[in-house]
Amino acid sequence: MTHSHTDRGHPTRSVYARRPDSVQNPLPTATAVDTAKILAEVELPTISKGPIIRRPRMVAAVENLGLEARAVARLQTAAEKYGRGPLMLGLPGRKMSMVLDPEHVHRILEESPEPFATAETLKRHALKHFEPQVALISHGAERARRRETNEKLLDHNQPIHRMAEQFMPAVREEAQVLLKQIDDAGGTLDYSNYFKAWFRVVNRVVLGDSYRDDTELLELMETQRARGNWAFLRPVDTEARDEIHSRIDQAVAKAEPGSIAAFMSQMEASGDFETSRDEDVQQIPQWLFAFDPAGMASYRGLALLASHPDRLEAARHQIEEEAQADVPLLPLLRATVLESLRLWATTPMILRETTQEVEFEHGVMPQGTTVLIFAPFFHRDEKNLDFAHQFSPEVWDHERTREEWPLVPFSAGPGLCPGRHLVLLLTSNFMAQIVGQRNIDLLSHELEPGRLPALLNNFSLKFHLSAR
Ligand code: HEM
Repeated sequence: MTHSHTDRGHPTRSVYARRPDSVQNPLPTATAVDTAKILAEVELPTISKGPIIRRPRMVAAVENLGLEARAVARLQTAAEKYGRGPLMLGLPGRKMSMVLDPEHVHRILEESPEPFATAETLKRHALKHFEPQVALISHGAERARRRETNEKLLDHNQPIHRMAEQFMPAVREEAQVLLKQIDDAGGTLDYSNYFKAWFRVVNRVVLGDSYRDDTELLELMETQRARGNWAFLRPVDTEARDEIHSRIDQAVAKAEPGSIAAFMSQMEASGDFETSRDEDVQQIPQWLFAFDPAGMASYRGLALLASHPDRLEAARHQIEEEAQADVPLLPLLRATVLESLRLWATTPMILRETTQEVEFEHGVMPQGTTVLIFAPFFHRDEKNLDFAHQFSPEVWDHERTREEWPLVPFSAGPGLCPGRHLVLLLTSNFMAQIVGQRNIDLLSHELEPGRLPALLNNFSLKFHLSAR
């Protein structure tokens, strides 16, 4: 047993046994020039695109200028020069580090929220604009009970949510409405139409059928998310934030059958939660927010299918096989969404913050360090993955393990996205309605199967749908 007691049993730490700290044994630090390059080529494009709500014009610019590929290349150069890291950035007054080693990705995500807190400072400032009590930016016991509430409501370990059968009419009906609208308009599907239809599904599933056309809450959320993009640089609009919470509170009180709001109300009534009503209500803006990237990912998934006819055929085969199921599982369409997220991560930067000093092989990370995991660096690493730039749904035919290369579109460990199965359930079934009933051709882009682009702008993606 190792201990630091003296021979006489005094609980004082021996100076000899004391572990070197972040001052005596620092991690490698990037030079000022390299720090500037990493900030300019990795951080800046990510922030410009909009971390909390995407800015379509900036997404287009990043796509056109090829900045996403440059970001990955920049970190590859850094890893060659500095080794495994984590690499401290040479910033005055701010402790930041970039993760460069696949093993460290696993470790950091598994050792969340202690010592790697999910409640990182910038994230806290961004999310406080609409959900200051959400699990993701909470600490300790508060985080634990808020996380548990999310896990229960989202049935987070179940590929098929316990209420899935009740969600299916919304998915099928809204897809039908969308298809009719596209047919009537000559067959062109664009993101705006797709997004509106998708959010009609989301509103019905989360809040209830009568919220189908409620764009007001969505708009309120969008305005607050736009403020969130600026984090602490914008003051919180508490009135708008209260309005969001009060509308969600009303939906929970209404408890429309078949909605997760009703499930919440039921669980509250039966004393299943340690959280208060206020806390419960504040978990839901995160869901409404996060269903937005789910729309992007599934829409890009359609582009993958349209440009890979063999996969599309296989997906249609599964759709037909499960046509009679109450809730089809659709593994290939789920894997398509996961691939879309691997190729074009909607949470490209996973952030953590150290609550104490942490020892790594090559040095000690100070307390209060922001830890940056840039997912595309790992997801699109052609030096280590032969499928880096290809559509490879088979990599998702099993749960990814710690022994494997980190593919973390939904994060991992105790901070793993509790909504992932619900996302995959709803997106796969929504996509099935489209590709099961229509031919689908990509109009706006040409995707080369062996060399998929580093970014695919969902806002400019267009398809032509025709009768099968
Ligand atoms: C494509 C869609 C989505 C993606 C890619 C995604 C990804 C992620 C990621 C990467 C995290 C970890 C973030 C971090 O550590 O900072 C996360 C957390 C979370 N996600 Fe998702 N998510 C999606 C959709 C959803 C949906 C639709 C819901 C709810 C219905 C949801 C609920 C949550 C919650 C509650 C957390 C916080 C978990 C915690 O505090 O530990 N997500 N998600």
